[in-house]
Amino acid sequence: SFQTLDDLEPGQRLLVRIDVNAPVEDGVVQDDRRFARHAETVQELLADDHAIALLAHQGRPGRDTFVSLDQHAAILSDHLDRPVEFVADTCGEEALSAIDGLERGDVLLLENVRMCEGELPEEAPETKAETELVRTLSTEFDAYVSDAYATAHRSHASIVGFPLVMDAYAGRVMEQEYRANTAIRERAFDGPVTMILGGTKAEDTIPVVEQLADVVDHFCLGGIIGELFLRADGHDLGYDVDGTELFDHQWEAHSETITDALETHDTTVVLPTDLAYKDDGDRAETAVEGIEKQTSYLDIGSETIDRYTDRIADSEAVYVKGAVGVFEDERFANGTVGILSAIADTDCVSVVGGGDTAHSIELYDLDEDDFTRVSIAGGAYVRALTGASLAGIDALECDS
Ligand code: 3PG
Repeated sequence: SFQTLDDLEPGQRLLVRIDVNAPVEDGVVQDDRRFARHAETVQELLADDHAIALLAHQGRPGRDTFVSLDQHAAILSDHLDRPVEFVADTCGEEALSAIDGLERGDVLLLENVRMCEGELPEEAPETKAETELVRTLSTEFDAYVSDAYATAHRSHASIVGFPLVMDAYAGRVMEQEYRANTAIRERAFDGPVTMILGGTKAEDTIPVVEQLADVVDHFCLGGIIGELFLRADGHDLGYDVDGTELFDHQWEAHSETITDALETHDTTVVLPTDLAYKDDGDRAETAVEGIEKQTSYLDIGSETIDRYTDRIADSEAVYVKGAVGVFEDERFANGTVGILSAIADTDCVSVVGGGDTAHSIELYDLDEDDFTRVSIAGGAYVRALTGASLAGIDALECDS
């Protein structure tokens, strides 16, 4: 069990970790779903007269989504209908001076915590508690509130370090997402189960295939994940969006585990049989059989969409993590929208997760109520489905 906001005394100085990591295009945040949820936690804290410093991340070093949080402060301010001061520093002098001036009823947002040395990589909580970030900021506040459920599967300093050295509480988003995802797990695997796994993060997806292979009937793959498995199956293709080299990096890091997972679960893992690409500005499709790497493949093809939607129609439960194509471009949204619409048409238990995937629901006017749950979390929610613990929840565990 963990302490929640119900256990927190009013009028304190709080460090609050939120997750407003969002899809970013050309430097601009595209979706405010996570902001809206965290704003509710912050409103509740303001009503209890706390002084609030928010800590958050955006993207990862080296990616084009790795940007400053200045616009995040403005979006939060819109949701809260009050100023949120942006501080262009996380734990240096500028941050400490802003924190010093923080009064009850004030809200400030510190700079992208992933710009701080020691935040990444994943390490033991004890190691993370020793980082300069945790040592510096922990002495400035009375308590730490952990609201970043969507990052709770990462053993990063701002997630697991602070609870070791400070009084720590779960925020409302953390509490609600944790309880909802735990409740879903109890009835998650009754009847035929299909999982649609797309997106870009192999390290979050492969363990899911390995751990749920006994209870999931079909893992239907798309996105970079699908292409990585196709490569392991002997098809030489790559899915580099705008020269990000994401595909090649993921292949270098995970080719062995992907090849093993495909060999072990070849009847459960279902791969695309056709893919879409851009030809003279239009959508074109090609069969995977005999394909050669000539271009970036940006969506699953029509035959694959039909094969996946047939499986969805036969399922009692469907879980989606990550998009199967670059849906932000309407020409390559057929796969993502086709799959979500097929799920929306059934009565099965369904959960859609992943910051980007949830964004597609809004972008294409799908109705959120047609799904059992739309989680703001991606990797954290599928990890919770496997029954594995989340580092950020473990860190909050106490005897009370
Ligand atoms: C997410 O969007 O899944 C979380 O913010 C975690 O981000 P990460 O996958 O870059 O660690």
